[in-house]
Amino acid sequence: MCGIVGHVGPLNSINPAGAPGSGRSLEVLLDGLSRLEYRGYDSAGIALVRPDDGERLTVVKAAGKLDNLRAALDEAGPAPATAGIGHTRWATHGGPTTENAHPHRAGTLAVVHNGIIENFRALRAEVEEAGRTLLSATDTEVVAHLLDLDFSARLAAGEAGTVGPDAAAALLVESMRAVTDRLEGTFALLAVTELAPGAIIAARRSSPLVIGLGEGENFLGSDVAAFVAFTTHAAEVDDDQVLLLTADAVTVWDAAGNVVTPNTWEVSWDASAAVKGGYETFMDKEIHDQPTAVADTLLGRVNDRGELVLDEMRIDPAVLRSIDKIIVVACGTAAYAGHVAKYAIEHWCRIPVEIELAHEFRYRDPIVSEKTLTVAISQSGETMDTIHAVRHAREQGSRALAIVNTYGSTIAREADAVLYTHAGPEVAVASTKAFISQITACYLLGLYLAQLRGNKWPDEVADYLENLGKMPAKIERLLAEQEDMVRELGEQLADQTSFLFLGRHVGYPVALEGALKLKEVAYVHAEGFAAGELKHGPIALVEEGLPVFVIVPTPRRPVLHDKVISNIQEVRARGARTIVIAEEGDEAVTPFADTVIRIPAAPTLMWPLLTVVPLQIFAAALAKARGLDVDQPRNLAKSVTVE
Ligand code: M6R
Repeated sequence: MCGIVGHVGPLNSINPAGAPGSGRSLEVLLDGLSRLEYRGYDSAGIALVRPDDGERLTVVKAAGKLDNLRAALDEAGPAPATAGIGHTRWATHGGPTTENAHPHRAGTLAVVHNGIIENFRALRAEVEEAGRTLLSATDTEVVAHLLDLDFSARLAAGEAGTVGPDAAAALLVESMRAVTDRLEGTFALLAVTELAPGAIIAARRSSPLVIGLGEGENFLGSDVAAFVAFTTHAAEVDDDQVLLLTADAVTVWDAAGNVVTPNTWEVSWDASAAVKGGYETFMDKEIHDQPTAVADTLLGRVNDRGELVLDEMRIDPAVLRSIDKIIVVACGTAAYAGHVAKYAIEHWCRIPVEIELAHEFRYRDPIVSEKTLTVAISQSGETMDTIHAVRHAREQGSRALAIVNTYGSTIAREADAVLYTHAGPEVAVASTKAFISQITACYLLGLYLAQLRGNKWPDEVADYLENLGKMPAKIERLLAEQEDMVRELGEQLADQTSFLFLGRHVGYPVALEGALKLKEVAYVHAEGFAAGELKHGPIALVEEGLPVFVIVPTPRRPVLHDKVISNIQEVRARGARTIVIAEEGDEAVTPFADTVIRIPAAPTLMWPLLTVVPLQIFAAALAKARGLDVDQPRNLAKSVTVE
C-alpha cells in the first residue's frame, strides 16, 4: 500500500545542456507515480530539490488521484530539479487529505513513507515536547521531525555554516540510522534535504523498496514499475539497510553499519507491458493478457527428456519426497488460486493440502513441522500478512516455496525457493492474469511433486503438460467467442443489487473469485458458495429475478455434472435468473438456463483457467456500466503491505 519513487540525477544538470538524466526528476517521479498509482490513490505528492540559490526544496501535494497533483504542479510550476521523491498514498494514519499527503516537510528536509510506525504516539509526544508543531495526523510527519531534530543536532555539532552537500548527506545517513533504530513497525522511507541537493537517503524494514541503477542517475521505487521506463537494472534492498543514492553511486549499509553490495538483476518487464495498449482499462488489457500469461508461466519447463523441470526449485528433492503436508498461505484472489491447487495437488500427489488465509495462519498455532511444505502465493510478493505467514512457517521448521509474480519481492527473497509466475506487471487492483498464472504455477508444482515422488508415470505427467499447453489457445478462443455477449450481460444487469455464484469441486473457488471480482470493482453484494451448501442455508437468499451464476462441470464427470444440474433447478424453481457457464455441447443445461456461456472443453482440474474468464469480463462490464473506475476501486490498494 502506498507507492514511493525517488530519482537523483547529476548536480550540473539544471542547465539544459547538462548530463543525461539531468534536471528531469519531476518527469521521472510523475512517470513512476502513474505506474505505482495502483498501490494507493487517496492522495499524491512530490518533493524536489535543486542546488541553486532560489527555492531549493519544493513540496507539492494534492488529495485524490494523481491528476489532482498534476493540476497542482501546473499551477506551482516547479523549476527543474536534481533530485526528488514522490508518493501515492493509501491512507492509514489520518484521512485522505492534502495535509496528510506525503511528502512531509520538517526543517530542511522532506520525507515519504510506506508502512506503519506502531510507536508513533509516543514519538509524536516527544516531537511536540521538542517544540515542533505537526500539521498532519500521520505517523510519517513524526518521522520527518525526528529526522530533522537529529539532523539539525548533528549539523550544529559541526562548524556552523561549513557543512557542504556531501557532509550533509553523510550526516543525514547517520540520522536515518539513528531514527529508524527507534521506529517500531514497517517502513520504506526516502528523505531529501536542500542541504544535499544531489542525494536521496533511504531506509527499509518490511516494506518494499528496490533500487534502479541508471547511467549517471539512480532511482528508488516500491517496485520496479516505478523506474522501468528509465532503467531495467535493479538492485535489492534488505531489511534494516540504510542507503545513500547520488547520481553516480549507490551506497548501502547493513544493520551493523557495514557497507554491503546489493544483489542486482535485470528486469524482464518492459515499460510497455505496464500501459493499457489500446484497451479502455488495465483490467480489460490484463484479461486479454491471460493467454500469454499462462503460456509464459509454462515456458521452458520441460527438458530434452520430456521431464518437467523447475529450475528455481532450490529445495532438496529428498526433503520434497519426505513432506507429509502442504499448507498454502495467501490472501484474497491468491488464496482462491491456492484453493484450486488443493484439488489438483491432492489428486495428483496424494499429499494433504490445507488452505490458510495468511492473516489467520500464525494466530491459530498451526501444526507445522519440517515435513510441512508451506506454499505462499502472492502476485506482489509484498502482502504483509503473507510475509508474516512465511516467516512463522519457517520458524517452525517448514520449507517455504513462494509462487510470486514480482521478481526481487520480499516473499520471493525470504522463501526457500521461488516459482515465478510470468504474468508481467498487473496494474489493475482487481487480480485477473495473476490468478490464472498462479493456478498454472500450482499445476506445475503439483505435477513436479507427482513426478518426483512417483505418484504419476512420466507419460501421465507429459499428458497433463500437453493439456496445459493447450490452455492459452482455449482462453484466446473463449475471449473471441464469448466476450461481447458477456459484456452485454454485464451492462443489462447493471442495476441488480445482489448476485450469487455457485460451483462444485474446482468450480467452488471460481465461484468465490467471481463474487470477489464483482464486489471489488462494482461494489455490488455478491456471494460465492459451494453448490452443495446451498440447501444448508444460502438458498433462503434466492428470490424472484436474483441472478445466479452456476459453473457446471463437464458432462464427462457425470457425478459432479448431474448434481450441479439439480442445483440449477433448485434455484430456478425459486425464481432465480440462471446464468450458466457450461462446456460446449453440454445440452443438458439448456432447459434450466436463462443464459448459457459456452466454454471450450478441458480436463476438469484445468477448468478454472477458462471458467473464471467470463466472470472477470462480467464484473468489469457491470462496473463500467455503473460508471465506476474498474482499475482503481474505492478503498482498495493493489498491494496490501500493512497487517
Ligand atoms: O499481491 P497478492 O497476490 O499477495 O495480493 C493478495 C490479495 O490482496 C489480492 O489477490 C486481492 O484479493 C485482489 N485485489 C483481488 O482482486
